[in-house]
This record gives sequence, structure tokens and C-alpha cells, in this order.
Amino acid sequence: MSGDPDLMREAYLDLIKRTVTNYIQLGDELPLGRFHSAGFYDPKASEWTIPPIARPRTLQNVHQLELIEQQFDRITAEGITGDLIEAGVWRGGAIIFMRALLKAHGVTDRQVIAADSFAGIPLSAKFKHDTVNSWTDRWEASLPEVRAAIARFGLLDEQVELLEGYFADTLPGLAGRTLALIRLDSDSLESTETSLQYLYPLLNRGGAVMIDDWHLIGCRIAVDNYRKKNKLAGEVQVTAGNAWWIKQEERGFPGPPAGE
Ligand SMILES: C[S@@+](CC[C@H](N)C(=O)[O-])C[C@H]1O[C@@H](n2cnc3c(N)ncnc32)[C@H](O)[C@@H]1O
Repeated sequence: MSGDPDLMREAYLDLIKRTVTNYIQLGDELPLGRFHSAGFYDPKASEWTIPPIARPRTLQNVHQLELIEQQFDRITAEGITGDLIEAGVWRGGAIIFMRALLKAHGVTDRQVIAADSFAGIPLSAKFKHDTVNSWTDRWEASLPEVRAAIARFGLLDEQVELLEGYFADTLPGLAGRTLALIRLDSDSLESTETSLQYLYPLLNRGGAVMIDDWHLIGCRIAVDNYRKKNKLAGEVQVTAGNAWWIKQEERGFPGPPAGE
């Protein structure tokens, strides 16, 4: 095949961004940069205003997907080793995009890990007053549904790991693994706290952590507490509403949660 590989890579990733957000069907006259599928969600009624078939594969907009891409490019350029994980995947759009990044760059030595209950956000007994507890929509998407979606993009293979179950049960099993990029998108204080506790120590120095739910007070509390407790040095930046920072400490820091 002839053609400029950079242009072909860019074109492939651009098409993935347009499809996982469902800009293709829903964008109308809006430019991609101003489109956000969440505009079709009524938060008061806790429901989509569009039929199931039209719903996006990710709630992220193109700028948030670009943040993943920018950090992936940086990690690759700097030779930061490790896998990519999203904790809280819903319908799998960000996982599809991460796997597409590996494919577009011919990367075969990294895994994409999709951690989710595939049964929605659990109610938090520890933080009963977290506003997320009052949501009627728990954002569930089943494992077969997510698996089929990834397969439909031609991206379901041995480089994708689907980790089914609640974080407190599944994430400890990743001990010993090395991560280069962590994306947290589980909404609740407790879920964010648990995922940071188990995943952050696995992140390599120079790896990136991204927090989708920076607009949710519980999530912000979980992140602030964790950063303060462990005196993390990486400066928090905010891009398209997502908070992120680059790990300055060695892999293995902080140590495992107390009692483990
Ligand atoms: C808002 S959705 C994620 C959106 C998705 N990342 C995207 O790009 O559109 C939140 C997800 O977090 C998952 N989740 C929340 N807390 C969890 C927990 N403690 N264990 C496992 N999954 C959890 C839910 O099942 C749901 O799929």
C-alpha cells in the first residue's frame, strides 16, 4: 500500500473519533470540535433523548479523546513502558480508541485493560452522601455488549483485556503489572478512591493519569485526598474538563494499601 503513513494514521484515528462519539450520525451541522454527545442526555430525567441504537460509544468529546492521544504519543516518544487502562468503560468507546492507537502505531507490546463491573456504578455504603448515589441511571453496559462493540471495530484481540467486576475485587489482581496511562471514569468518590489506590502505584514514572469526572465533587475529593496524602508532585492540569498529571515518582510509589 502506498501513501503517507502519518496521514493514513491520522485519517484512521480521526474516523474512530467520529464514530465512537457518534458524531457521524448526530453531528448535523456542528463542527466536530463543538460536538458533545452528552447534549443528547437529559440529566434531570436521567435519560437519553435519542434511541438506544443512536447512543454514543463514549461520553467523551473529541478534545478528551485527543488528550488520550497526546499523552499516548508523549509516552511512546519518551519510551515509558506499560499498559493502558480505563477504569469505568461504560460502552467501551475509549477502549476502542486506545486499542486503535496501538494498531495505528503498530504497537504490539502494550495491552489495553478495560476494568468495569459491566453492571453499572455500585451504590457506595462508605460515602452515603455522594451525589452519585442518588443517580437513577447507573450507566450500565453489559460485558457481551462491550465485547461486541470492540469486535465490530475489528479491534477485539489478545491485546484487549476485559476485567469484569467491582474494582475492589478486580484491581488488586493487577499487582505486578506496569502501567503507562491510566484513565479513571467511574464517577463516584469510592470508585475513584479505590481505583487510584490500586492503579497509581503501578504507573511508571512519566506515565499519565487522567480523571474524567473533575466536575463531580466526590471524584475531586477522592483525587485531592490521594494527592495530598501521598504528596504527589505532578502538577494537575485541566484539558477539556478532564484533570490529568504526569507521575513524577517511581513505579511502586505509593506502596500497596494498608493491610495488603
Ligand atoms: C460514566 S461511565 C464511564 C464512561 C466511559 N468511560 C466513556 O468513555 O463514556 C462509569 C462507568 O464506571 C463503572 N463503575 C463505576 N464504579 C465502579 C466500580 N466500583 N467497579 C466497577 N465499575 C465501576 C460503571 O459500571 C460505568 O460503566
